[in-house]
Amino acid sequence: MDGTAGFDRMWSELTPVGRSAATGGYRRYAWTDADRQLREWFGAEAARRGLQLTQDRAGNQWAWWGDPDSSPAVVVGSHLDSVPDGGAFDGPLGVVSAFAALDVLIQQRYSPNRPIAVVNFGDEEGARFGIACAGSRLLTGALAADRARALTDADGISMAEAMRRAGSDPDRLAADPETLARIGCFVELHVEQGRGLAELDQPIAVGSAIWPHGRWRVRLPGQANHAGTTRLEDRNDPMLAYARLVLAARTAAERHQSVATVGKVLVEPNGVNAIPSQVTAWLDARGPVPDRVRRLVAELAEQAEAAGGSLVQESWTEQTAFDAGLADRLRRLLPEAPVLATGAGHDAGILANAGIPTGMLFVRNPTGISHSPAEHAELADCHAGVRALGRVIAELAG
Ligand code: GLV
Ligand code: MN
Ligand code: MN
Repeated sequence: MDGTAGFDRMWSELTPVGRSAATGGYRRYAWTDADRQLREWFGAEAARRGLQLTQDRAGNQWAWWGDPDSSPAVVVGSHLDSVPDGGAFDGPLGVVSAFAALDVLIQQRYSPNRPIAVVNFGDEEGARFGIACAGSRLLTGALAADRARALTDADGISMAEAMRRAGSDPDRLAADPETLARIGCFVELHVEQGRGLAELDQPIAVGSAIWPHGRWRVRLPGQANHAGTTRLEDRNDPMLAYARLVLAARTAAERHQSVATVGKVLVEPNGVNAIPSQVTAWLDARGPVPDRVRRLVAELAEQAEAAGGSLVQESWTEQTAFDAGLADRLRRLLPEAPVLATGAGHDAGILANAGIPTGMLFVRNPTGISHSPAEHAELADCHAGVRALGRVIAELAG
């Protein structure tokens, strides 16, 4: 099977899955019908190539070329889920490119000396239950299964219940050291989520590091009351504290040379003519220097507490430097490729922080836009990514 033709076929098969007709963006959330279709698609691609399909105890899917227990495997892949109204590339590009790269190797009659696996990490974006990289965190034990089962979505449905409705057994959910031990190294190919490659006029980069990043839940309580009859001086309106906090996040991020985003907010009871009783907002903060990110968050926590509320960490991922030896090999294989760090989180970061030699390849994104329907990569660059990944796998499994 030719790698590029296979890529094009797989890409067009995935295009309609979980796509909103209204926005053109993707809504591929964990343990939903779209997720089920994506998992079935992954299983069918494994079967098409005669790869052994497994699902680990953390809910991630694996397609194995060779006996997974013969020696530590070369693992490639990414995730298939999306943020709300996300783009087509963040995640699926890595999975589709992994299968297409295997096609190149199969066509070349390549014979690996180690098993090779394609992985689909579940729930990478955490769009439904709030914890990013839930699948890889569960796998490594960084997210406890009890905590994961109890996480709830916007409708109050727990992950356990969502899994049950999707036909999966939540009681099986657990860290999976046996699967983890099968991973010799992991290389995640991903669409670039910035303009680094576009500015350097290059199609492919080698990843060097992921900024430390985290998510925090901010609760700001108030007193529900009538919008017409309550005098301004009598109000306890949490929307004002919320507005101040969003502005403070921006100025603190500038001061600490970091980035901070409040992209999700819940207003209760959410009535036009009622002062809210509570505002809950989610802060995402990241930056190249961990202490600066922590100081930024500490300042906002103080502000939330002064307003009678709280700011509680939901997840934190340390600064990730990818394996230096693996990065050297990737750079030698792809001498034209620049080396880039990223502010985006990835399953590769979770695995690297669990001690697995891990690397990343980025594919040019002409506008740099990501987590948006406008996310894009040219087909020629995607094909270049498949060829690069094929060379990487051939080298690492040789
Ligand atoms: C995932 O894409 C993240 O960076 O939040
Ligand atoms: Mn993403
Ligand atoms: Mn991603």
